[in-house]
Amino acid sequence: MHPLLLAPSLLAGDHAQLGASVRIVEDLGLSWIHLDIMDGHFVPNFSFGPQTLAALRPASKLFFDTHLMLDEPHRYLEAFARAGANLISVHIEPAYDHAATLARIRELGCQCGLVLNPGTPAAAIEPLLGQVDLVLVMTVQPGFGGQSFRRDQLPKLRQIADWRRARGLTFRLEVDGGIDLATAAECRAAGADTLVAGTSFFRAPDRAAFLAEFSRLG
Ligand code: DX5
Ligand code: ZN
Repeated sequence: MHPLLLAPSLLAGDHAQLGASVRIVEDLGLSWIHLDIMDGHFVPNFSFGPQTLAALRPASKLFFDTHLMLDEPHRYLEAFARAGANLISVHIEPAYDHAATLARIRELGCQCGLVLNPGTPAAAIEPLLGQVDLVLVMTVQPGFGGQSFRRDQLPKLRQIADWRRARGLTFRLEVDGGIDLATAAECRAAGADTLVAGTSFFRAPDRAAFLAEFSRLG
């Protein structure tokens, strides 16, 4: 199993000073940051785009874990790769050529991931598991931070972790939405290794203490 990794979501950072929010993550010694990209179609909200990644990139060595919540993600791969994304995840729900899109992400020099909404069964991504570096299971309906964790997604996590083990695959298994120390422990037990935390991380009264507690789940 991969070592446990915390990927704070910049969506919950200070949007008037995103650079400062990135530095908070880096100064704690973390290696990943989760970047939520929204198009107002696939999800009913907006966040930021490739120009923001490009502006943050020179000041940070963090691994840019880029979650595209877009109806047509295949149209924007070059833009996000050029802006400095290290991993690009795309949702399985919209209709586009998923396999070609994953291959193109790798061709651009990035790792690739597939994302499932809470209503999407694990079977939807099963044929593509051999082609990904990461699977992201949404534990809230995407679009907004600060929602409650959906425990009904745990069996899906276990199913994907079982397939990974049975097939000898090595993709990371990431969870996003409503993650705090308690729900992180449940996800870890179900096989997740990469946990996104927006609200619980950025609003923690003592982030170093939060991180120390989180590390104990490893
Ligand atoms: C939701 C985003 C999440 C969000 C998580 O659409 O994909 O990454 O920032 O926020 P919290 O941790 O507050 O649920
Ligand atoms: Zn996300």
